[in-house]
Amino acid sequence: MKALDSKLPAVGTTIFTVMSALAEKHRAVNLSQGFPNFQPPSGLVELVERHLRGGRFHQYAPMPGSVSLRAAIAEKLAQLYRVSADPDTEITVTSGATEAIFDAIQAVVRRDDEVVVLDPCYDSYEPSITLAGGRAVHVPLAPPEFAIEWDRLHAALGPRTRLVIVNTPHNPAGTVIEKRDLDRLADLLRPLDCYLLSDEVYEHVVFDGRAHATALAHAELRRRCFAVFSFGKTYHATGWKLGYCVAPPELTAELRRVHQYVTFASTSPLQAALADYMREHPEHHLGLPAFYEERRDYFNRLLAATKLTIRPSAGTYFQLADYGAISDLPDVDFARWLTIEHGVAVIPISVFYREPPAAKLVRFCFAKEDATLAEAARRLSAL
Ligand SMILES: Cc1ncc(COP(=O)(O)O)c(C=O)c1O
Repeated sequence: MKALDSKLPAVGTTIFTVMSALAEKHRAVNLSQGFPNFQPPSGLVELVERHLRGGRFHQYAPMPGSVSLRAAIAEKLAQLYRVSADPDTEITVTSGATEAIFDAIQAVVRRDDEVVVLDPCYDSYEPSITLAGGRAVHVPLAPPEFAIEWDRLHAALGPRTRLVIVNTPHNPAGTVIEKRDLDRLADLLRPLDCYLLSDEVYEHVVFDGRAHATALAHAELRRRCFAVFSFGKTYHATGWKLGYCVAPPELTAELRRVHQYVTFASTSPLQAALADYMREHPEHHLGLPAFYEERRDYFNRLLAATKLTIRPSAGTYFQLADYGAISDLPDVDFARWLTIEHGVAVIPISVFYREPPAAKLVRFCFAKEDATLAEAARRLSAL
């Protein structure tokens, strides 16, 4: 047999896995990969336990997701965003937002279609586009503002554009899209026969009194939009890999055609527990902005005693910082050096770009307990 000709030759082990392994090897404080080191709400864990022991949820969940979970999602969308979504035809539960992103891309992107992504961007987008036979067109968001440059986005759009992917709140930049940005996006997309994938996994992590501007609440964008969300981010349970996609019936039908043969259905007892918990404890997601804002402010106060320059985060549990006053190393080398020599693991932002800008920025995850953040800051203060 001939040597295997990879369908994803540019893909290696992700930087998140590399940095976490390096952190473990060198006993570094790991602020690289984006996951909390605190527990999910105890009431939620008890519900999982109860549903596991109850014996009713050991077999396949319904393909689109449990009926009660989809109903709870619809209720939340109505209450929080005044968005109406039909649980039967518009909401699909997936194995993490990553699966929803993959399914949406496979559902609409064909060979040689173009998909516009805004760099820096989440690393699953491009391989999913490549596997669908499409081509990613990268439009950079330039530091320090990381604002959408509308002229550049406009220039990247054309008759071959099949999909545009946006992410708000934004990983890793910590920026958020506002209602007026959605209006401009709608203006640009209006003449085109293309879809929108809105990655909103950090919907509840917005700071300083801001409200999350979901694309679902924009009447015009709603008609062409797959919006994806993550229970992992919202309930401090990234390891559960549960998320969902909200899209109009025609798009949902296509997405489910893919979902049905990727995973068929997602974990049943977890869906049952989340459905109960969402209904009984809306205060959990409503309290997340304040909860994470306190984490952000605490971490920023600690970083103020270091030579790092903070880029204010408006959303997500990530914080960018400029290390120019500490080192001239390129960001990947700096991140390795910091991990190995000083015991703090971070993510270099260049890995989120096709053509990285000449910036000295690294990403910290502050979804960590006080003691973890304080220990990281103690080590960073020595630089
Ligand atoms: C921007 C963004 N999109 C999607 C995901 C994936 O979410 P999930 O863990 O639910 O698959 C992540 C996870 O880090 C993310 O940061």
